[in-house]
Amino acid sequence: MIKKGIILAGGKGTRMSPLTKAVNKQLLPIYDKPLIFYPLSILMLSKIRDILIIVNKGQLNQYKKILPDGNNLGVKITYLEQTKPRGLPDAFVIGEKFIGKENVAMILGDNFFYGQNLSKLLLSSTKLRKGAKVILHKVIKPELYGVAKVNNRNKILKIQEKPKKFFSDLAITGLYFFDNKVTKYAKKLKPSKRGEVEIIDLLKFYKNKNELSADLIGRGGAWLDTGSIDDFYKTSNFVSAIENRQGLKIACLEEIAFNNNWITKKNIRESMKFYGNCDYSKYLSKLL
Ligand code: DAU
Repeated sequence: MIKKGIILAGGKGTRMSPLTKAVNKQLLPIYDKPLIFYPLSILMLSKIRDILIIVNKGQLNQYKKILPDGNNLGVKITYLEQTKPRGLPDAFVIGEKFIGKENVAMILGDNFFYGQNLSKLLLSSTKLRKGAKVILHKVIKPELYGVAKVNNRNKILKIQEKPKKFFSDLAITGLYFFDNKVTKYAKKLKPSKRGEVEIIDLLKFYKNKNELSADLIGRGGAWLDTGSIDDFYKTSNFVSAIENRQGLKIACLEEIAFNNNWITKKNIRESMKFYGNCDYSKYLSKLL
């Protein structure tokens, strides 16, 4: 079972400036919560309780105000800083000590997932013992993402970062599961033309050993983008539509923790005090 997870929540957020000049992108709102709640909820739904959040140098205090240490969510949150955006695999070098001798999941701080069978998919993915696993989703513009071509048994035939020439419409989402060799491989990577170490190159180490597997989020599920300002609003609208229709919140962290039996009603009361008089607290009060 994978028990450790990393949220990579740094990056300059240049595409969303001036919004991101003072506040990190992952702390901006997706409808009624900061973006970071959504990837954190995904790790919690995967029953991962030991969580490392990697943030930009100098932005630690912003994060600690909203997610101090995880105590009240029944998880342990550790923070580390990334001095500059050296690329996604840098997370495994920064997190080497945190990972220790275990396997690890990583989710990008700006990735949003939603769907009926998601929890099942997450729990089966954390069973990974050896190799690496990626989660794929069909998109209209694969050229914006890492892309994978698979055969009818979901075996990965080809992967490429932001391919100019079409070969598949399956994007590699920002949720990855790795065995313990990931740090060793991450250290071997050389920066690409855009000056960053690339997650695709890391995945290729596994692919070349026939140790890269894939699972698909089908059309009943959603993987949404938060890359640009437009995407932010579209994703916000999606969350608003679902929440206001069902009366259920997406990524209510306390609700997930409570359902996992990680926290008690006392913790929920403390959270309500912490957030103050707001809709989120009113929702929490319904859990009591
Ligand atoms: O969202 C999925 C895609 O994420 C994958 O399909 C691609 O294969 C993968 O390379 C990545 O593509 P992006 O070009 O969208 O990655 P971006 O540089 O925007 O970074 C994603 C998040 O990670 C973003 O929230 C910022 C954060 N980040 C990024 C880098 C490079 C860091 O915290 N540190 C970094 O060094």
